[in-house]
Amino acid sequence: MVTRSHTPVDAKVGPLAPYTGTMAKDKTVYSCSDCGGTTPKWLGKCPHCGAWNSLVETAAETPGAGKNRFAGRASLAPSSELKALSQIEASDFARTPTGQEELDRVLGGGIVEGAVVLIGGDPGIGKSTLLLQALDALQRQGHRTLYITGEESGAQVALRARRLGIEGSQVQVLAETHLEKMLATLQSVQPDVAVIDSIQTVYSDQLTSAPGSVAQVRECAAHLTRAAKDDGVSIVLVGHVTKEGALAGPRVLEHMVDTVLYFEGDTHSSFRLVRAIKNRFGAVNEIGVFAMTEKGLKGVSNPSAIFLSQHAEPVPGSCVLVTLEGSRPLLVEIQALVDSGGPSPRRLSVGLDRDRLAMLLAVLHRHAGVACMDQDVFVNAVGGVRISEPAADLAVMLAIASSLRGRPLPKGFIAFGEVGLAGEVRPAPRGQERLKEAAKLGFSVAVVPKANAPKKPIPGLTLHPVERVEQALEVFRSLA
Ligand code: TYD
Ligand code: MG
Repeated sequence: MVTRSHTPVDAKVGPLAPYTGTMAKDKTVYSCSDCGGTTPKWLGKCPHCGAWNSLVETAAETPGAGKNRFAGRASLAPSSELKALSQIEASDFARTPTGQEELDRVLGGGIVEGAVVLIGGDPGIGKSTLLLQALDALQRQGHRTLYITGEESGAQVALRARRLGIEGSQVQVLAETHLEKMLATLQSVQPDVAVIDSIQTVYSDQLTSAPGSVAQVRECAAHLTRAAKDDGVSIVLVGHVTKEGALAGPRVLEHMVDTVLYFEGDTHSSFRLVRAIKNRFGAVNEIGVFAMTEKGLKGVSNPSAIFLSQHAEPVPGSCVLVTLEGSRPLLVEIQALVDSGGPSPRRLSVGLDRDRLAMLLAVLHRHAGVACMDQDVFVNAVGGVRISEPAADLAVMLAIASSLRGRPLPKGFIAFGEVGLAGEVRPAPRGQERLKEAAKLGFSVAVVPKANAPKKPIPGLTLHPVERVEQALEVFRSLA
């Protein structure tokens, strides 16, 4: 007689695994990044709010957490007394300058004790280089530093150090990707500043998902942030950027950390910008400018003219913009190429917003009679710099008009100003400063919003204040 066994096949193979309490899988739940609801297993659609692909793995809360979070803790005394805001002394944060002036500028004067900084950027842009240099400088000032690398071996880090001329450095290096071990090392070493290169390589054994997944990145960053606050360690997390240009772990890290820095720049040019996108201890949009040299990154203390390409004679389709990045004005060349296109002409932009470009083309057509409907339009901000301020509008428009007509703007020409949908030209913040910087660098003709025109003339600078797009185009026609 044939007897059927109901025992699962797996159980027959080898001895039964010893019971170890909850298994890793049981510790995880899937929580919806939209509504926050949880499910015990992964689903394509959130059963609570119906959002698709929103469930990410999260470590389950320990018993006692959740609704009854406070139940067993009633006997605990509150950690500190309540105080009225007016009674709290506003002490400034203890900042440690990193010894790199440009990096300190974006950090708001130095790295703050217990702060967590996230630094993002494309691969190969110089994140590891900059941080190793900064750690070495800090170590030389007598701070304890720790460089945790998950991407490279110790030997590779040493090779980089040799290249940077800091091979004798006392910076402690640890090649580790396991979060729990990392936390234990941080506890025992108690460094002043620790760099984790990169957060995508770190994994916690509390989660089953792969390193680099949203769940792991979020969980690991949260643990490291807590460690930073508890022990007063300043932690710098290196984050990779996804193809779409966002810091991986869709913005999940940005709200957790104190400061978010972003590396920009063209890997083919030697200049790199570090921009503060969020800073609880300083101004945002401040930028630090570096040049990548044989011996690592060197700060550029006077960067205003580095984003100009050197044309011997003016060329069509080029207009210099005075943009204000953080506290310093920068002169950036905006290039445009308008060329006859096919049935569906292309609009491409590098370093500028593409939607804004489409809008400017519409305004040019409607209010200034400049039509590019059947033309491909390409615009580029020279040097890999990314420009987000609307004050670039006027320069973009003039570069397009110049390319379309095949006529260059005059030598020594600059422009800035925001353009509205009604064709009006709106003032840019701190116009005087921009004009002074341009004059200092030898620029002699400027088209600017009327409200930005200074009452006293600036020596060496001929101003053409405009209120409307048509006026700006008229000035261009009279000059070119
Ligand atoms: P890296 O710091 O490894 O970039 P990331 O950590 O952001 O991926 O930078 C690597 C690039 O920098 C590489 O292309 C070589 C270049 N480089 C120099 O030009 N000079 C140097 O002294 C060093 C160390 C790197
Ligand atoms: Mg690196």
